[in-house]
Formats: sequence, C-alpha cells, structure tokens
Amino acid sequence: MSSKNGKSGKDKAGKPYAFDIGNPELPEEIAEHALTSGGYPYDEELKKKVYSEQLADLQLELLKLQAHIEDKAIRFLALFEGRDASGKGSCISRFLERLNPRHARSVALSKPNEVERGEWYFQRYVRHFPTAGDMVLFDRSWYNRAGVERVMGFCTPAQTEAFLRDVPDFEALLVRDGFAFFKFYLVIGRDMQLMRFHERRHDPFKRWKITDVDLAAIDKWSDYTRAQDDIFKRTSSKLAPWIIVRANDQRRARLETIRWVLFHSDYAGKDARAVGEPDANIVGTGPTYFK
Ligand code: ADP
Ligand code: MLT
Repeated sequence: MSSKNGKSGKDKAGKPYAFDIGNPELPEEIAEHALTSGGYPYDEELKKKVYSEQLADLQLELLKLQAHIEDKAIRFLALFEGRDASGKGSCISRFLERLNPRHARSVALSKPNEVERGEWYFQRYVRHFPTAGDMVLFDRSWYNRAGVERVMGFCTPAQTEAFLRDVPDFEALLVRDGFAFFKFYLVIGRDMQLMRFHERRHDPFKRWKITDVDLAAIDKWSDYTRAQDDIFKRTSSKLAPWIIVRANDQRRARLETIRWVLFHSDYAGKDARAVGEPDANIVGTGPTYFK
C-alpha cells in the first residue's frame, strides 16, 4: 500500500508502519535501515577523521589536476546523476571547494523555458560546456529526459526513446573531440531517500532543497527504478561508461567520486599514494556493476 507522499512497510516485528513526510517524527525503522538500504555494503559511515584527512589529500591532488587541465588546454566535463536526494550536489561542492572558481564551476539548470523548449534538446546543456582549460560539473544533465521528464510526464515516450537512442552518439562526439568526460550515477536505497527527504522537510536550513518533484518521487520509486535500469542498459558505452557510486554514505561517495577522476587521469606531480585506489564496494563501471 502506498499513499500520496507516504510509504508503508513492516517493522522487524511484522507490525505495519507508515512514513508521512509531514510528521516531524521519522519512523525508527527507516532511520535504522537507511544506511544499509538497497544492499549497501557497509553498516557504518566512514569515520569523520578518516574522511577529512582523505578529502584534504584528494583536494590537493585536484588542484594539480586543475593546473594540468589549464596547462594542456583540456576541456573537463563531469555529470552527476541519481535519484532525488542522492547527494549529487554535495559531491559536486566538495569537488569544487578548493579549486580556482574562475576555471571550475557547477551547472544546475532549472526547467526549460519557452525558447529552450523549442530548441534541439541538447542545446541548452551545450551552451554551458567548458572551453579549453575549464572544468564544468553538471548537477543533473541531459539525462533528465530519461529520468525525471520521463517519470513525471514532462516529455513524451517518443522523446525519451529518441534520447536513449541518440545519447551514445552525442557523448561519443565529445570524447572523440578530446573532452575529459566522466558520468557518475549515485545510487541510494529507499529508506535513505525517505530519511533525507524527511530531514529536508524538517530542517529549516535544508527546506529549500525539497521540491514538488521530490514529493512526487516518494510514490514513484519503482518508476524511477525502471528509468534507472534503462539508462544503465542503453547509455553506457565504451567511450562514455557510467560510473556507478553507492551513495548511502555521503562521505564515501564524495571521496570516491573525486578519487575516481584522479585515479583515471594523468597529471604532473601525481601522488599515487594520496590518490589511493577506488573502493570496488562503492564505485564501479558497466551495466553489470549495479544490480
Ligand atoms: P532538483 O534539481 O533540485 O532536484 P527538482 O527536484 O525540483 O530540482 O527538479 C528535478 C529536475 O526536474 C530539474 O532538473 C528540473 O529542471 C526538472 N523539471 C522540473 N519541472 C520540469 C518541467 N516541467 N519540464 C522539464 N523539466 C522539469
Ligand atoms: C541531490 O541531493 O542529489 C541533488 O543535488 C538535489 C536533489 O536531488 O534534490
């Protein structure tokens, strides 16, 4: 049974419980299962001290990468996708935190206006692409067409289908033209999403983050699951594979997205010890990595 903006389930004793976004009290069952929901491999968050130390090391390496990108006139483009509240914004902000903002920025577009709706679908995204030496990180991207637009009915099924058909060609053009291109997909479990929505609704500092689209997502979990499956199946290409990140623990997600970029980039002065190795429990590529 599910209701508008609600979800029900059973607790450990088999007793039914209901999630109601308006109720300031979060059901204990959800809080308890949030971190391990969706088959998350760790039952504890990464310790804050370990996180802070590694983040500083990685951010220092990112500065070297940025210098290299400017020096070699590379265009760097990364996009972050994932369900509502998967933590895209927080990964991007840690990525950018220590970089020179003149040459590194995030792009989070709002819904298309009348003029944009008349353009070629990719056009409004292309306008924000990096020039030589710049880094651009997209918080959501053209994948909206196969995600939120599809699920919420903001486009037609034929438009989604055309997108799924064309996007590998579109991305191949970028990679063949020399872009450094990374596409991350953050996956979270259902209880984690509910817990984050609940926090956004009841924490005055986070209230702005919750939108009508998020509220609708509470009841559309399985529609988004289907959309996500199609995205993985149809848009992971050799030139532009999805990098799938298990993101219930935000600390690990932030570290592993930055680490992945560094690990897979060559730049002057790279300190392999500081970069470390990607955690295969958290991050991987290809359609079979996440099932
Ligand atoms: P956020 O990006 O903060 O999660 P929302 O959850 O409100 O923002 O919206 C999710 C995405 O859906 C955004 O990228 C937004 O541009 C897109 N969107 C919202 N309404 C429409 C619409 N009518 N047509 C196309 N896209 C839309
Ligand atoms: C996120 O937290 O994943 C996004 O940046 C914001 C959202 O999905 O509401």
